[in-house]
Amino acid sequence: MNRDTPSGDPFRLDDRVVVLTGASSGLGRGFARALAVAGADLVLAARRLEQLEELAAELTGTRVEVVRADVSSPEDCRRVAEAAATRFGRVDVLVNNAGIGTVVPASKETPDGFRQVIDVNLNGAFWMSQACQPLMPEGSSIVNVASVLAHVAPRFPQAAYTASKAGLLGLTRDLAQEWSGRKGIRVNALCPGYFDSEMTRDQEPLREVVEAGTMLGRFGEQHELDAALIFLASPASSYVTGTSLLVDGGMSAL
Ligand SMILES: NC(=O)c1ccc[n+]([C@@H]2O[C@H](COP(=O)([O-])OP(=O)(O)OC[C@H]3O[C@@H](n4cnc5c(N)ncnc54)[C@H](OP(=O)(O)O)[C@@H]3O)[C@@H](O)[C@H]2O)c1
Repeated sequence: MNRDTPSGDPFRLDDRVVVLTGASSGLGRGFARALAVAGADLVLAARRLEQLEELAAELTGTRVEVVRADVSSPEDCRRVAEAAATRFGRVDVLVNNAGIGTVVPASKETPDGFRQVIDVNLNGAFWMSQACQPLMPEGSSIVNVASVLAHVAPRFPQAAYTASKAGLLGLTRDLAQEWSGRKGIRVNALCPGYFDSEMTRDQEPLREVVEAGTMLGRFGEQHELDAALIFLASPASSYVTGTSLLVDGGMSAL
């Protein structure tokens, strides 16, 4: 069921409560700004509270709750959901954006290193979804931020990251199957190509590789990803569930 938006514009998120993880830097900060412009109330989570508070102060005109949380902790994820329940009474959209990336040859990967990436990128999305689901009414949406690397082989050695993001696609399909029909919660994955952020900034040869390896020959820009996020979060995508949307400048099609 598609709950109508007050303005009649299906891309608006007025009066919708959005929980966004990984809002303290990079794509998450941009997502928070775009969601606020679309009219949403926000619950922002990450480990760096100061950065969240700074962002919240910038988002005047929007109701914002910030929560320090490590998504690899199921308990922290429950606290984020509780904060949303206490302040707003429900969750309409959950964006599982928190993530970490490592570049390590598989032969040199450590058990702790591998586990940590899976714990944040994959397990964290599950704990957050499980914690928020009881607060999500019919017409709600979960967006799992995966990666183009869920679809294609990475250009650099990234076994843990690639496995975590491919795993997110499986999780997306499962939760969509369990919750879309019965509970009216759509679940989709957003798969970015390469965008400027703390995660990509340190990987210097990356820019040349991406420019040569995408049809559009460049990194994406934040607003190009925001548009896809708003689509998946809003009633504009009311018949879209269990799938992934690639915003990768054509990288996966080459
Ligand atoms: N940038 C790209 O080109 C690109 C491409 C494909 C996919 N992605 C995905 O997009 C998402 C955002 O990444 P980004 O590029 O914006 O990188 P980023 O600037 O490094 O941001 C990562 C965010 O995740 C948060 N985070 C990390 N570990 C966390 C934990 N244990 N608990 C809670 N929050 C945690 C960080 O906040 P704290 O450190 O404050 O906790 C930060 O806000 C990630 O899932 C990433 O895999 C990015």
